[in-house]
Amino acid sequence: MTNPVRTIAIDGPVASGKSTLGFVLAQRLGYLYLDTGVMYRALALAALQAGVPTDDEAQLEELLQHTRIEVQAPNVNDGRRQTVLLNGQDVSWEVYQPQVERHVSRVAAFPAIRRAMVREQRRIAAAQPVVMVGRDIGTVVMPDADLKIYLRASTEARAQRRYHELRARGQQVELADVMQQLRQRDAQDTERADSPLQPAADAVILDNTALNVEETLQRVWTLIVGRTVSEH
Ligand code: DC
Repeated sequence: MTNPVRTIAIDGPVASGKSTLGFVLAQRLGYLYLDTGVMYRALALAALQAGVPTDDEAQLEELLQHTRIEVQAPNVNDGRRQTVLLNGQDVSWEVYQPQVERHVSRVAAFPAIRRAMVREQRRIAAAQPVVMVGRDIGTVVMPDADLKIYLRASTEARAQRRYHELRARGQQVELADVMQQLRQRDAQDTERADSPLQPAADAVILDNTALNVEETLQRVWTLIVGRTVSEH
């Protein structure tokens, strides 16, 4: 029996657990995993490296035209979920630097940048079964996705998760700062005019404040199995 759920969109705010869920789900299904956030992060990093102001849409667009961003399956066994290449250089970890984090929401708010990224994401989605993770996947990138999940969790739970994640990566951060930046990025992502973060009308909203990864996965798996059975 083939699985009719071939395109899965996962959206949600910072540290809602969407990348972790998307990754384990893609592995279990044998689908391509694409966390689209790294594409915006790679452009923000490219801008910082080139000295291009991250509040200048025209210059960013120009930069993007001359920048090669590639997202591949991990080719190094160091805990990464994707390998990110910026003009052929491995920046899989650099894209998570605090400096990039401070600028990325601004870069991602520009319509010209979003248009180019969405075009590329749709091209990838058309080629194979995929679990795609981001902010606008169910609303804009794959409005016809077979399953749309919108993950949410309390701000406190998300700040805790991000704090532990950053500490585990060796970054000397404080919880209060993590919380403040998370709030700021949430606000930027939900208040922007172009493709703001919001659940698609037909998304399943899942609050995982009190759920661990395995429990969250189990809920989503039940949805997939339910759809598979109901189609036959
Ligand atoms: O999911 P993330 O933290 O890696 O995303 C980085 C930024 O990119 C985030 O602030 C919002 C933006 N983003 C977006 O606007 N649309 C997407 N599909 C993915 C990310």
